[in-house]
This record gives sequence, structure tokens and C-alpha cells, in this order.
Amino acid sequence: MTAPLPAFGAPPGRAPVIVGVGGHVPPNVVTNDDLVARLDTSDEWIRTRTGIAARHVVTPGTATSDLAVEAGRKALKSAQDAQVDAVVLATTTPDHPCPATAPAVAGRLGLTGVPAFDVAAVCTGFLYALATGAGFLASGLAERVLVIAADAFTTIVDPADRGTAVIFADGAGAVVLKAGDADEPGALNSVVLGSDGELSDLISVPAGGSRQRSTGLPPEPGDEYFHMAGRATYRHAVERMTAAARQSLAGTGWAPEDVDRFASHQANARILEAVAERLGIGPERRLSNIEHVGNTGGASIPLLLAQKSADGELKAGDRVLLTAFGGGLAWGAATLTWPEL
Ligand code: ACO
Repeated sequence: MTAPLPAFGAPPGRAPVIVGVGGHVPPNVVTNDDLVARLDTSDEWIRTRTGIAARHVVTPGTATSDLAVEAGRKALKSAQDAQVDAVVLATTTPDHPCPATAPAVAGRLGLTGVPAFDVAAVCTGFLYALATGAGFLASGLAERVLVIAADAFTTIVDPADRGTAVIFADGAGAVVLKAGDADEPGALNSVVLGSDGELSDLISVPAGGSRQRSTGLPPEPGDEYFHMAGRATYRHAVERMTAAARQSLAGTGWAPEDVDRFASHQANARILEAVAERLGIGPERRLSNIEHVGNTGGASIPLLLAQKSADGELKAGDRVLLTAFGGGLAWGAATLTWPEL
């Protein structure tokens, strides 16, 4: 089972500290009624089963990098310094199978020359990318890292699959990390990451990778799309996020009542309510934007942080618990105190 990584007890001055945040969604809004017009579903079913009323969806010609650049630009502006030494991009929907999307994003942000690469951990991608960026700082490979999570998730969802088409949406979020002190506001505390590849079939895009391509045969119809065993995934999501969150809290030395803001991956409103209830975190301490943005994959946590920081629901000094779960299976959790931005 997952063990908390040693708290970033990096050498003095090398702890990962958030100093900027930014989020972006494409302007095109798709409401539940828009989906009802083409799917066997209802506004009532979608709202009660997922908590979603509307979501933002890319229009033809917009790719993941376009969303990532916008979020990255805002995070760099929020950090009041456009220079970083590395760019890490978490995505499940890269612009192309090859090359990675991060170098193009870095180039468009005026960061040509810095190391830039993608991280693939589906809906937990942001936490994995955050830990990767923290490692660059702790090792001295970088002083400042731009960590972005972006997904044009609707580009891999089967528009005719009512089980996934009503949930997934598009967006991006980003943070700037600097090397700083472990007790500074914005410093990441205990980070927990885990995976279980024996359950990889619960969430997958069967075609398009070497497994299918090596057969030399065309993909089976529909295999190019995202598949999810919704009910089984739901159960694992609740169990894994709750366990990871408990481990991260224990690693930080916080009790659930010490948490001011719970910022979970916005998978489904019922999932985040179930996790928060198990942890003993009441509704007034839960951050949520799923009603208006849906499940934006890896982007969901940094997009939530950016929106809630901007509207004042997330304030400097708030003790924040993050947790995520998704395909892989992969999951994670982390704690931090929100900085003045
Ligand atoms: N509209 C109307 N009815 C529907 C819809 C829909 N959009 N979708 C499914 N149904 C029906 C089903 O056919 C089923 O009907 P039946 O009982 O006659 O067979 C019934 O509703 C219940 O279906 P369930 O799949 O059991 O519905 P559930 O309440 O579990 O909700 C959902 C489905 C929303 C997909 C939920 O299971 C879920 O959110 N799962 C987890 C999502 C998640 O966390 N994913 C991981 C992170 S995301 C990532 O990694 C990319």
C-alpha cells in the first residue's frame, strides 16, 4: 500500500513552494439540455448522479496545448515572474502521440530551451506532476518550475456514450513552484502517491498505442474512445482517495478538523461528498466547481484552486488537503497552506 513520501524535508531552501496559480476553460459551454438533445439522458439524471449542470468543451481546432498555454501564462503572471527552469505538463490528451506536448507549450510561453516534458497519470496527473516538479527543486535541477495539467478530454470521449459523455469536459490549470522553506505559506507538505496496474482495464483507451498497433490490424470500432467501468471506478475512487488523504494528513500531523479547505479531483459530486464525509470534513469546507466545469481530468485540481483563489473562497493561510484518483489506477493526496497570491 502507499506510504507517504518523506515530507519534502529537502535541504533548507529547497522545499517546493507554490508562488503562482492560473486556470483556463474554453469559452464554448455545453449544458445538460444540449446533451439531452442527442443522448438518452436527462438534466435531472446528470445533476443528481454527477452534480454537473454545464461544462466547457473545445471547438474544432483547439488542442490541449492551447488550453495549457493559457493556464500557464496566467500562473506565470500570478507569480509575477515569467522565468522558470522547467515545464512539466500532465495530460491524457497530448496534441500528438509524439512528441510530448510540453515543449510546444514552453516555446509558446517564451521558455524555449528549458527542460519540458509530459507526465501521464490520467486524473491524478497534476499531483504526479507536482511531485516531479518538487523533485527538480529538491535536487537542485531547478529554482522554479511551471507545473501544468491540461486535458481536452472530450476529444477522446465517445459522444454517443452517455456514461462518459455527460461527465467529461475540457480545461487547464497551472502552478509555479519555487525552491523555498518548508514552513513558508505555499509549501507542499506530505505527498502520497500510489498505483494499481492490475485494475488498468477499468479506465482505458484500448486503441492507438503499441498494444493495438503491434497487431497490424485496424482498431475495433469504438476502441479509439475512452472506456470507463463507472460503478467499479466509483467504489475504488472513494476508497483510494479517502485512504491517501488520511495518509497525507497523518504525514503532515494534521487532524481532519485542521483542514480549512478540501480540494478533491472533481470526478463526480457524489464521489467527493462520500470522501469528505468519510474524512469528517463538512460541506462548508469543501471546494467544488464541478457544477459548472464538469470533470476536466488532470486539470481539475489546479483549475479548482485557480478559480477558488480568484473568487476568495480559498484564502491565504488556509490549510488545504488535495486528493485525486483516476486511470492507471493511480491516486494521490497532498497538503499545503495556501499562499498570498
Ligand atoms: N443518463 C441516464 N441514465 C444513465 C446515464 C445517463 N447519462 N448513464 C448511465 N445511466 C443508467 C445506466 O444505464 C444504468 O441503468 P440500469 O440500472 O437500467 O442498468 C443506471 O443509469 C445506473 O448506472 P450506473 O453506471 O450504475 O450509474 P452511476 O450512479 O454509477 O453513475 C457514473 C455513473 C456517473 C459514471 C459514476 O459511476 C461515476 O462517476 N463513476 C466514477 C467516475 C470517476 O471517478 N472516474 C475516475 C476519475 S476520471 C479519470 O480517471 C479519467
